[in-house]
Amino acid sequence: MLEASHVTHATSPHKLGGLGPLLESRRVILVVGCGGVGKTTTTAALGLAAARRGKRVLCLTIDPARRLSQSLGLEAMKSEAQRVDPALFERMGVRVPGSLTVMMLDTKSTFDQLVHELAPTREKRDQILGNVLYKYISTSLAGTQEYMAMEKLHAVKADPAYDLILLDTPPTANALDFLDAPERLIGAIDSQAMRWFVQAIQGSGKLSLNLLAKGAAAVLRGIGKLTGAGFLEQIASFVTEINALFGGWRKRADEVASALRGPDVAYVLVTTPDPLSVREVLFFAERLREQKMRRDAFVVNRVHPVYGDVPDETHIFRSMSARGLDLGAGAADRLKRAADEESRQGKMDALHLLALEASFEDEAAEGSLRIDVPAYPFDIHDVSALSKIADVLAPV
Ligand SMILES: Nc1ncnc2c1ncn2[C@@H]1O[C@H](COP(=O)(O)OP(=O)(O)O)[C@@H](O)[C@H]1O
Ligand SMILES: [Mg+2]
Repeated sequence: MLEASHVTHATSPHKLGGLGPLLESRRVILVVGCGGVGKTTTTAALGLAAARRGKRVLCLTIDPARRLSQSLGLEAMKSEAQRVDPALFERMGVRVPGSLTVMMLDTKSTFDQLVHELAPTREKRDQILGNVLYKYISTSLAGTQEYMAMEKLHAVKADPAYDLILLDTPPTANALDFLDAPERLIGAIDSQAMRWFVQAIQGSGKLSLNLLAKGAAAVLRGIGKLTGAGFLEQIASFVTEINALFGGWRKRADEVASALRGPDVAYVLVTTPDPLSVREVLFFAERLREQKMRRDAFVVNRVHPVYGDVPDETHIFRSMSARGLDLGAGAADRLKRAADEESRQGKMDALHLLALEASFEDEAAEGSLRIDVPAYPFDIHDVSALSKIADVLAPV
């Protein structure tokens, strides 16, 4: 145990190139963790790290900060692939022999694409795409975003234009949601209630409320009153149409789900030292373990360093003066307060990370790496800042 945790301690992977070997050997990397921990940043930094190693990288992302996409020269992130201009890397002094392409995940257009592929006829396709219920399901139904992220991943995975595909998973309240998203979404649509509908329209092709289970019929009559009878007809025809897709769709969802378990897929779990996020990441690791899936790496983002004792104001003032720095009255006080705060945060982070360390021994024994990324005193929104994180994650 001791040996394993020693080998994979934060400083060791650096010598081994950190996540470099992962970037070299896998086709797909899923970056997971709860919202706000730095998933999008980590995905972009890993993408840059791989491109610096000569890989042709595709980053599928959800919610890039505006400033990050702007600084990558992608004024408006689109659901089409956009390649980051190589001249931009040159200007920033970052050598990138590979390429970095970014694509925004767009739930609705991915869903449309799926309907295009699965609909048996052009007529059916247009009926589904034009249905009001479809519009709701393809944009707002819980689980759709997660499922479509997986769907998009599946669609681009075979594209020979890329060596490596990185997926920034959707910021779900629960980081695990995307794992069973395909099954859950199909489950929701192919549910008991939906089967009632199908039964009720079978034969006549028209909705017969009498054939519906009592409760469902009452609810529907209520909806009908509120929305007008047209809505019920829309539901009825949508259910018949989508039913025609079920066969293909189910098969597709199974394919997508099993692709998540393939040997060419890596999982990078991102957390911060925050206890809630550590708890979430450990829970997620456990779920992956249960499903016999790997946990290739844990990235602990925004870690404050642990300092020794902070010198007192007089000492700070003297060393500033000795260096010819005169920042005016109160500067030494302010510096002391800032240093105390940094030091306090460093100690807190170290304390919080004990919880991760304890469980990490088992993870390390199974080959997971842990990499700590410092909390920088600036936002990460340009290539040079991303490059700094890339250096930590996968030093060359
Ligand atoms: N190591 C870091 N140091 C400083 N700021 C960071 C670091 N990692 C991320 N950030 C900043 O934190 C914010 C949230 O990061 P982001 O990657 O968008 O999180 P998520 O995708 O998990 O919601 C961004 O403004 C980003 O620039
Ligand atoms: Mg994000």
